[in-house]
Amino acid sequence: MERTFLMIKPDAVQRNLIGEVVSRIENKGLKLVAAKLFQANEELAKEHYSEHVEKPFFNGLVDFITSGPVFAMVVEGNNVVEVTRTLVGETNPAKAAPGTIRGDYGVDLGRNIIHGSDSNESAKREIGLWFNDAELNDYKLNNEAWVY
Ligand code: PPS
Repeated sequence: MERTFLMIKPDAVQRNLIGEVVSRIENKGLKLVAAKLFQANEELAKEHYSEHVEKPFFNGLVDFITSGPVFAMVVEGNNVVEVTRTLVGETNPAKAAPGTIRGDYGVDLGRNIIHGSDSNESAKREIGLWFNDAELNDYKLNNEAWVY
């Protein structure tokens, strides 16, 4: 089982979409390992998006992510990075397919509802940035045998 980091962004928190998004993750058959409503500071936001520091949108992205609480999650499942990238949809909500989270709830590239790690390496790094080990819950879901 792999783990990934997902973050419901401030736009979706403000639009009361946490429940809708978490439902899609649960309904898919994935397991929540950790979750918290959390106000990120500038240091954390800059570290999280550090690979984009040279991009023209970097400062705006950091401002946006720190503009209100985010709902940070660790989610577990087989091949979970690919599965959640598909659930989330393309980066630009205007182009994301209907049925995906961004395709159903977003319109604007700068307000794209949710972040998901793009590889197992990124997932490990991002989980370590946003959560400490004590916040990660190791438990068995009773329905697991009916998902896999
Ligand atoms: S790139 O240039 O292809 O590496 O960037 P990309 O992977 O498309 O996006 C990296 C993250 O930056 C966000 N992004 C933006 N935010 C605000 N404004 C603009 N114009 C913009 N372009 C990209 C994008 O949503 C990615 O963040 P996450 O949180 O990973 O979705």
